[in-house]
Amino acid sequence: MEDIKKVNADRLFERILKLANIGKVGDAGTHRFALTNIDKEAQTLVTKWMEEAGMKVRNDDFGNLIGKKEGRDLDLPSIVIGSHIDTVPNGGRFDGVIGVLGGIEVVDSININEVQHDYSIEVIAFCDEEGSRFSDGLFGSRGMVGLISTDDLKAKDESGKSRFEALQDMGLNPKKIQKSVRNKEEIKCFLEMHIEQGPYLEEQNKPIGIVEGIAGPSWLKIRIEGIAGHAGTVPMNLRRDPMVGASEAVVEIERICKSDLTGSLVGTVGKIKAFPNGKNVIPNAVEFILDIRDIDLKRKNDSIQQIEDRIQYICKKRKLNASVEKLQEVEPVKCSTKIVNTLQESNEELNFDAPLMLSGAGHDSMYMSQITDVGMIFVRSKDGISHNPKEWSSKEDIEKGVLVLLKTVHKLADS
Ligand code: HGY
Ligand code: MN
Ligand code: MN
Repeated sequence: MEDIKKVNADRLFERILKLANIGKVGDAGTHRFALTNIDKEAQTLVTKWMEEAGMKVRNDDFGNLIGKKEGRDLDLPSIVIGSHIDTVPNGGRFDGVIGVLGGIEVVDSININEVQHDYSIEVIAFCDEEGSRFSDGLFGSRGMVGLISTDDLKAKDESGKSRFEALQDMGLNPKKIQKSVRNKEEIKCFLEMHIEQGPYLEEQNKPIGIVEGIAGPSWLKIRIEGIAGHAGTVPMNLRRDPMVGASEAVVEIERICKSDLTGSLVGTVGKIKAFPNGKNVIPNAVEFILDIRDIDLKRKNDSIQQIEDRIQYICKKRKLNASVEKLQEVEPVKCSTKIVNTLQESNEELNFDAPLMLSGAGHDSMYMSQITDVGMIFVRSKDGISHNPKEWSSKEDIEKGVLVLLKTVHKLADS
């Protein structure tokens, strides 16, 4: 089959920047939480682009947006391409988005060149990949593979609204989520193009990379309790101040993660809250979320245990109490050898010289790997920056990613 050599990179890049206007903050930030009106507005725009590419579009009851270009044989499983369009607070414009819009570009290019495949192609924008609004992420892909129960929909956001109610706000029927679960027979493979979000490709001076494995993120809510008091009257030696205990714990987390010389273990505290959160009040409690990840499951779990032991030691020394609640636990994932090899063949035929690499960030591919073969293409991130309005990937690098995606779809559709 005559290979398609061109994709419409200009239009794709314009669409990425246009979508970024929905939920725009400041000059280049995006704040687009799942199952909000802003998310609905973004889904409406992406639906338009999917329909223009000749896809039938629907939402499942997990809030996933699914476009389908039917192939000649509807009994065959679909080749699925996808990622997400929700963002972290004050995030960038490319995270997730390039994987969804790049998938639409693949379908558009196949249409323009009047190529007919036996396999159908689906493009999916998974709901709530970031987990910015509720307690955990990767929601839509976790649901699609059957790992969400109606109980999980009770999680509430900071306004007190549950995921169940938020799904209803979007006109969905969360009581019927089990009907949205996909089984392995329906899907031939899953491909995700995503920005790297780290410095590796820039250091190697490569535009794209092929992902072999994805580090598994765990999220733990750690609550440290002390005794509230007057900031002006309680002598320093009498205080049982949980903020100081939490601060010492955060420094310990950094020390433990830095002790891993492979550099694969990373720990972050990006969200912290004092109660009652008064300027002149020694807090009675402090809560923070630990995000800890590693490509090696045992090392991650051993480090979590080490951190929990150190927090208990700090609290005993400071006469504080600590409790730990596991919010999210995702195991590291190895991408399918078959898909990685096919991506490498495409890369070699296009002479793009994409290195094999690991992903420190989590992706919907992790859960999709539970029901099908998955592979990921990474696109270089300028200065390795992401989850930040300064996030940037060039049109030329994204174009290379889409060409590899397109060629790989052809190969898989013919295999
Ligand atoms: O947290 C992550 O790795 C992804 O951005 N959701
Ligand atoms: Mn992200
Ligand atoms: Mn992402």
